[in-house]
Amino acid sequence: MGLYKLLVKGARQVVTVRGDGAVSSLRGREMQHVDVIEAKGDDGASVLADRNGRIEFIGFDSERLSRYPKSEEEADHVIEAAGKCVVPGLVDAHTHPVWLGDRVHEFAMKLAGASYMEVHQAGGGIHFTVEHTRKASQDELYASFSQRLYDMMSSGTTCVECKSGYGLDTETEIKMLKVIETAKREHPLTISSTFCGAHAIPKGSTAEKATADVINKQLPAIIDLMKTGDLHVDNIDVFCENGVFDLEQSRAILKAGKEAGLNINFHGDELHPLNGAEMGAELGALAISHLEEISEAGMAAMSKSGSVGVVLPTTAYILRLKPPPVRRMIEAGMVVALGSDFNPNAYCMAMPTVMHLACVLLNMSMPESLVAATLNAASALGLSKDYGSLSRGKYADMVIIDAPRWEHLIYQFGCHDKIIEYVIKKGHIAHTKYECCG
Ligand code: NIG
Ligand code: FE
Repeated sequence: MGLYKLLVKGARQVVTVRGDGAVSSLRGREMQHVDVIEAKGDDGASVLADRNGRIEFIGFDSERLSRYPKSEEEADHVIEAAGKCVVPGLVDAHTHPVWLGDRVHEFAMKLAGASYMEVHQAGGGIHFTVEHTRKASQDELYASFSQRLYDMMSSGTTCVECKSGYGLDTETEIKMLKVIETAKREHPLTISSTFCGAHAIPKGSTAEKATADVINKQLPAIIDLMKTGDLHVDNIDVFCENGVFDLEQSRAILKAGKEAGLNINFHGDELHPLNGAEMGAELGALAISHLEEISEAGMAAMSKSGSVGVVLPTTAYILRLKPPPVRRMIEAGMVVALGSDFNPNAYCMAMPTVMHLACVLLNMSMPESLVAATLNAASALGLSKDYGSLSRGKYADMVIIDAPRWEHLIYQFGCHDKIIEYVIKKGHIAHTKYECCG
């Protein structure tokens, strides 16, 4: 075992996003630029990871050789990255990955004209997935969930937010959170876990009863398991929407979660303008997702509170929604992040595809979408001290692509797997193209 876990050397570009590791998020014009260490002739760029998987050195090969002359011999692995580019591991700020029962049949219904809420109110949508997830064992759920995590990682994701929310009762919500807990221990990905018991009104219940159940039964049971160390839940979520939880019910649930020590991170202003952004900002939400229908006052409020706006281009795309007003959000000074929203409605777990859609559908530039899928997404999860950009002391979470400029990761739409050569997690080679493609 050497002094160092990994050395990447000779790279054509290393995109640090921001070289200054103290920067925790970027907003407005700051999002228009990413810092890049660009090879000068034969002098490429290096990243050296220490035994804890943190970055010991990042800069030109020549400087590394003078400061760490034995770094090559003392690294467990050396990746020769001549002609290749390194970007920070991608951070997916919003997913629903624990479930059984896909909804491909509903995709056909939606293509034929049914809206998301029509399918939901007819007993499908989230209800369909709840039925299958309630019946599934913890092991069955874990098997499909961990495969999804590996698939996310092979697309470049190294940190991910994962929600419960297909149980809607204490027993199943806890079962889902335990599945996420197991992955937190056993899977290389860094996971931020979210209790989303208020994802829908269970069949046969009412919004009032479901609100009371979340606040008085589900949440206390989860907090008890956190006290005993059986669960480590990070965030509380609610689907704040007409026909689901209204603004006041959502506020009550989020407040209860916050009082219990969870970060507020919820679905707001997606299908109808309910002033969810204003409410979340007032409560000090860490993040609010969707925001297709955010108001100008909501943008101002989130900019002031620093709540991160997590936009989800796959959902707007698949449901043919009016896209969230990202240009206005950025102009208003909000911190904007991206998430895949992977779920049985929007079956996409690849952040390179999400970044591409963000550029084309939401009019973001490539630097803005990379910032949103790295540093700002880490900030939405309270993880930007350790993740989301490459600088000394942060974790060496990286994606190495076989392409001459980093923008190829976004530009080569739908074929990121052809160019992602390595995914590095905490200095460890967690995925290589060669493992699966020979
Ligand atoms: O973020 N809007 C609510 N929740 C998910 C969809 C979940 C589902 O349909 O299963 C979303 O898009
Ligand atoms: Fe969602």
